[in-house]
Amino acid sequence: MKNPMRALVTGGAGFIGSHVVDELVRRGWEITVYDNLSTGFVKHLGPALQSGRVTVIQADILDLASLTKAMTGVSTVFHLAANADVRGGRHNTRIDLEQNVIGTHTVLEAMRAVGAEQIIFTSSATVYGEPDVFPTPESYAPLQTSVYGASKLAGEAFIQAYGEYFGIRSLIFRFVSWIGERYSHGVIFDFVQKLLRNPAELEILGDGNQRKSYLHVEDGIRGIFLAIDRILELKSVINLGHEEYMPVTDLARIVCDEMGLRDVRFRFTGGVRGWLGDSPFVHLDIGKIRGIGFRPSVTIEQGVRRTARYLLNNDWLLKERTARQ
Ligand SMILES: NC(=O)c1ccc[n+]([C@@H]2O[C@H](COP(=O)([O-])OP(=O)(O)OC[C@H]3O[C@@H](n4cnc5c(N)ncnc54)[C@H](O)[C@@H]3O)[C@@H](O)[C@H]2O)c1
Repeated sequence: MKNPMRALVTGGAGFIGSHVVDELVRRGWEITVYDNLSTGFVKHLGPALQSGRVTVIQADILDLASLTKAMTGVSTVFHLAANADVRGGRHNTRIDLEQNVIGTHTVLEAMRAVGAEQIIFTSSATVYGEPDVFPTPESYAPLQTSVYGASKLAGEAFIQAYGEYFGIRSLIFRFVSWIGERYSHGVIFDFVQKLLRNPAELEILGDGNQRKSYLHVEDGIRGIFLAIDRILELKSVINLGHEEYMPVTDLARIVCDEMGLRDVRFRFTGGVRGWLGDSPFVHLDIGKIRGIGFRPSVTIEQGVRRTARYLLNNDWLLKERTARQ
């Protein structure tokens, strides 16, 4: 029998997944974390494990038999496990297809087998490619510029098709970049790491004018659960971002300031993009989620400062994540 308060969280030991688990614990759910620990850490689950309501299974989402067994009795699947590296697609053209498309398909097959009812999926603003409408609404019809974005959009499409066939309800979030406690990859991570190695100079990918929105994890988690409570329909797609955005050079200045570094020389690799597939401007229209009462409470500057401070106070994460790269 399915328990309406029982969830499986793929990628639950990751940066965002572990915060989802914390919130589910707060809400009294029973949770199975399903994670291969490729980029995640059981340490992130320390506080949640103390509840006695969290089970961790170290396994891969591509293993259908193991996933189906782990999902038995589960009503809601939070599917976060993915290759979350947005930059590598040009060099490894298969990983996003395997992890993000076939991985999502395998999750859906397991859900179908056990009769799980709803899926929460973490998609990305990357699916919009390089849009010409800002802020970009959910209805924008995009052309793809990266394999990662293409794989997330394909994942969304499979989820919706399974909704049509098997009645699986879905809530698909298109995220801007998340920052905050337990953050373990992305621009602030790169900058802190580089500045610890060489406090005199910082290499910035692109021309430094790329503008992006960033959302603090505290706000992001609030947004996810607000949407779950209010708008989980058969198929829903929701942008989750911030009204603000920030040029990457400003972000670099804040990280330097937080690290107490003055007169750091910025060296730009040049070009309007950080890498092929990078979008020079990410600013999502969050009118839909604002309509149900969502307002980010942490400014981007506050979020960047908190993230840099967290990394400086948790050098185990910098070391262990770097060792895995
Ligand atoms: N962090 C962001 O800014 C951001 C933005 C948009 C979308 N997303 C999406 O949100 C989700 C979570 O991202 P994150 O930043 O927490 O990344 P993360 O790397 O910290 O978390 C991913 C987790 O999935 C696990 N995992 C990866 N492949 C797996 C597999 N094959 N089987 C089982 N577990 C596996 C990893 O061990 C890790 O714990 C991802 O789907 C990512 O694409 C993140």
